[in-house]
Order: sequence, then C-alpha cells, then structure tokens
Amino acid sequence: MSDAVTIDAPAKINLFLHITGRRSNGYHDLESLFVFTHAGDGITCELADTFSLAITGPFAPDLEGTDLEGTAPEDNLCLKAARLLASRVSVSGQGVRITLDKKLPIAAGIGGGSSDAAATLLALNSLWNCGLSHDELAAMSLELGADVPACLYQQALWVKGIGEDVSPVTHSLPPYILLVNPGVKVETPSVFKRFQTLEEPFVADISPDQRSDILHDTEHLFRETVNSLQAPAVSLCPVIQDVVAALSETAGCLGARMSGSGATCFALYEDETALACAEKDMKTKHPNWWVYADRLRN
Ligand code: C5P
Repeated sequence: MSDAVTIDAPAKINLFLHITGRRSNGYHDLESLFVFTHAGDGITCELADTFSLAITGPFAPDLEGTDLEGTAPEDNLCLKAARLLASRVSVSGQGVRITLDKKLPIAAGIGGGSSDAAATLLALNSLWNCGLSHDELAAMSLELGADVPACLYQQALWVKGIGEDVSPVTHSLPPYILLVNPGVKVETPSVFKRFQTLEEPFVADISPDQRSDILHDTEHLFRETVNSLQAPAVSLCPVIQDVVAALSETAGCLGARMSGSGATCFALYEDETALACAEKDMKTKHPNWWVYADRLRN
C-alpha cells in the first residue's frame, strides 16, 4: 500500500455563468459550462497520525495569515475535506499530512480552494482505501462549497442547480486559454450581493439545441451567453473591465470574459503560437498582473 498520493488541483474556469434564480436559503441557481486547465495547484497526502496542512508555492503567503473571509489556515478547505471524509468512513486513528502547492491565486474566481478540497478528497479516497464512487464523493462534498462537487471531475461539465447537478460534456471549443488576474481578491458573497443590489435579470434556461451550438461554436458561446456576475464584479472592482479589454485586444483572441465571481479573466485561442504571443504581450504590458497560459482538459 502506498503511503503518499499526489493529485493535481487544476484551475476551474466558467466559460459562461448564468444566474437563473434565487433560492430561499440565499443561494443562487446557476447554469454554467465549467472547464479545467491541465496544471494548477497540487495536493500531496501522506499517511500520518494527526491532521496537518503545509502550504508551499508562490501564493502560499496569501494563505499564511487570515484570509479575506476571516478564515484561519487551520480552517483551510483541504483540512475540512479530510476531516469530513474521515467522519464518513471508518478510518479510526488515521490522520494525514497534506501538502498544498499553491500556484493559483486565491479568491480569484477559478475555484482554487474548491479544486484543492476536491483533490484532497480524491487523494484520501485512494490513500485510505475508502473505495467511494465519484457520485458518493460529490454528494458529501457539496457541504464544503457549491463548486467542490464539480471540481472532483476535472473535465468539461455542464453545471446546474447551485453546482451539484453536473453532467460531463464533450466540446470542440478552442483548447488554449490565457488566465489573467489583476492582483485583487474578490469575495464571492459580495459579488452575489451586488448582483441582487443591481437587480440584474435572471437568465432563462438554455435549450438542448442552443447547448449543442454553445459547446461547438466559439462565436455562439460568446454571443449567446454571459457571465451574470461580471457586471456586479466590475462595479466592485473596475480594473476587471480593463483586463477583459486588454485580453480582447491580443492577436488571435477568440473571446474574453471573467470567470466565476472574478477577478480572474480568460481568453481563448485556437493555436499555441497565438497563446504564447498573447502571454508575452500581457506580461510586457502589465507586469504586475498574474498571467498564466495553459491548455484545457477535455
Ligand atoms: O458555496 P461557496 O462557499 O463556494 O459559496 C460562497 C458564497 O457564494 C455563498 O455564501 C453565497 O453567498 C454565494 N453563492 C450563491 N449561489 C451559488 C454559489 C455561491 O449565492 N450557487
């Protein structure tokens, strides 16, 4: 039996995000196309007697202290995920030493925390020989956060409900993606609150025919869908508009918008050369922005 398991925790990008309604508990119903990059954060879980978490990587300092939502590191979602799984399966006396390699910015709309928690569950399911199915892990993971069930799949998904209703999809959208974050943290609850204050309209459900067009035609994707949270996020953090504009101007950009509740924005490209040029262009013009180029998982 192995005593350590390492798993990628890729970035999650919402190619579109429609808010379709609001529930009595304050959560919002969504319709969204989630895709995942190849690289991102990394999680290593090693057998241990107690539960502990060590954070390395370029964005580790952002998690060392208390974050924007007042969460201390002991409350990190990875540790919560480990304790949740331990409470649901019989692993008495078993602990874990988790190492999180934090390469993605936090509070950035690309699911870093959710993807880390999902990767922790996947690693521990293997390390502790729990034998739980994806569906079982997904059902238990919703209480960690609305995006955690989707992040377990690490492949393109059509997502509905508050994030729990996930369907794997195939698409033929451009494979190359550039992510850019202007270095501002955005709190998800504030963006949803701003969405309500601005009285932004709910978007109607997408029909099966429209869904097929969106999955296979980039122009259709950008013309027929939106990110309902982009206008509220821009009103809280205007530089997001500058990021979308700068990405849109890069040569070969097939479309650009904000992901999740921001502030990270993305642009899609058909070929690797265009991606590399756009990456260089953004890094030169905006040396203080986080710029990250990758290929999407199918
Ligand atoms: O579930 P998670 O912790 O990721 O959500 C953070 C916050 O975002 C929630 O407290 C809620 O205010 C908002 N949210 C929402 N509807 C969703 C997901 C998140 O209103 N579907």
